[in-house]
Amino acid sequence: MDKILIRGNNSLRGSVQIRGSKNAVLPLMAGALLTEETCTLHNVPCLHDVFTMDKILTQMGVEIEFTGRFMTIRTPSNIVPYAPYDLVRKMRASFFVLGPLLARFGKAKVSLPGGCAIGTRPVDIHLKGLEKLGAKIHLENGYVIAQGKLRGAEIYLDFPSVGATENLIMASTLAEGVTKIYNPAQEPEVVDLANFLNKIGAKIRGAGTEVITIEGVKQLGGCEHTVIPDRIEAGTFIIAGIATNGDVQVNSVIPEHLATFLTKLSEAGAEIEIGKNYIRAKSPNRILKSISITTLPYPGFPTDLQAQTMALLTCAEGTSIIKETIFENRFLHAAELCRMGADIKLEGNTAIIKGVECLKGAPVMASDLRASAALIIAGLMAKEGETIISRVYHLDRGYERIEERLASLGATIQRIRED
Ligand code: UD1
Repeated sequence: MDKILIRGNNSLRGSVQIRGSKNAVLPLMAGALLTEETCTLHNVPCLHDVFTMDKILTQMGVEIEFTGRFMTIRTPSNIVPYAPYDLVRKMRASFFVLGPLLARFGKAKVSLPGGCAIGTRPVDIHLKGLEKLGAKIHLENGYVIAQGKLRGAEIYLDFPSVGATENLIMASTLAEGVTKIYNPAQEPEVVDLANFLNKIGAKIRGAGTEVITIEGVKQLGGCEHTVIPDRIEAGTFIIAGIATNGDVQVNSVIPEHLATFLTKLSEAGAEIEIGKNYIRAKSPNRILKSISITTLPYPGFPTDLQAQTMALLTCAEGTSIIKETIFENRFLHAAELCRMGADIKLEGNTAIIKGVECLKGAPVMASDLRASAALIIAGLMAKEGETIISRVYHLDRGYERIEERLASLGATIQRIRED
């Protein structure tokens, strides 16, 4: 298993090109199950999660070509609508195939994703919504077996789950009649999915608002679509720049997608310049101020930037508070940050971070994707010593060659390959 070695205390400077969004491209790939015609995606990031979704679709019989940043997907009518445990357990987003399979083929067998390090992560909201649309669902040996002809319905989500919203939008596109989803997730990735589906002939209105209306159609076609930029990757590079008293510009982004996050960074004293499709962030040569953050569904502060922000705040002046309301166990990075000298106390879903003068390098272990990014940031901040991060396979799920891109900004970072 690879490790990442970092020697900190270098200010990062320069600009970096942001890749296509992981969380947008995965449902788009699943969305291509809804049509027999070819869908071409541009700006596809080269990530392990994308390879996993590629494998899931390919083993069903979907034809995929992925070269450079282009991906073409064609789903013939004779595929096997089955997603096995071995692949689904690796990535929860695999569950996105359930809605489109059911909508187009009238049946699907998809493994339950199971829990993960950051929480139990049930799929009850997905299943309840699909049942509302008329699906007959039963669980058998760890698999969801669903069948039935879907009909439009009024669905209220108990929580604005991103995955459930996406699964239900996809399922409703081919359902007979009109579906309304109340209290849906409003994340930009949901909007990107709706835009893609509308391009292939779906009739979806209201994505990104409090009610989404989907008028079912009989058949969908093909299209070309460019994946939106990854706001979480952009946020991670911005934090890395600020955390090292640097000056980093992220290019090819949609700044509006990061509005709440950027407001919080300004509140902490960072200097943010926002252009049409770039963000430049600097930390003037002084210590940041402590801030309070609560993670919330979009447009609130994103849970996927919580760990990285915690790393940043370990050296802010005063006491910062982070409340995590999306996942029940998303503070695994806190103990690792403490091993590097941070002062963090956890009380339920709240982290109390007392700013310390500096962090010091240490061997640490990544527990999940965003925790890995937080440990990299902490390693870059460390005033002395080496940080060796193990279990970095989590990182490769959602960041493309991050060590090379950080090195190009001046970081002393390298991957140690181990078989
Ligand atoms: C997506 C993102 C993930 C992000 C999360 C929240 C993808 C591929 N992943 O994950 O990076 O951190 O949104 O912004 O887009 N829940 C239930 N029942 C359900 C569904 C969800 O209780 O049926 C709970 C989950 O356990 C969790 C919370 O709702 O505590 C949020 O989950 P959800 O919005 O569904 O996240 P994902 O779609 O899994």
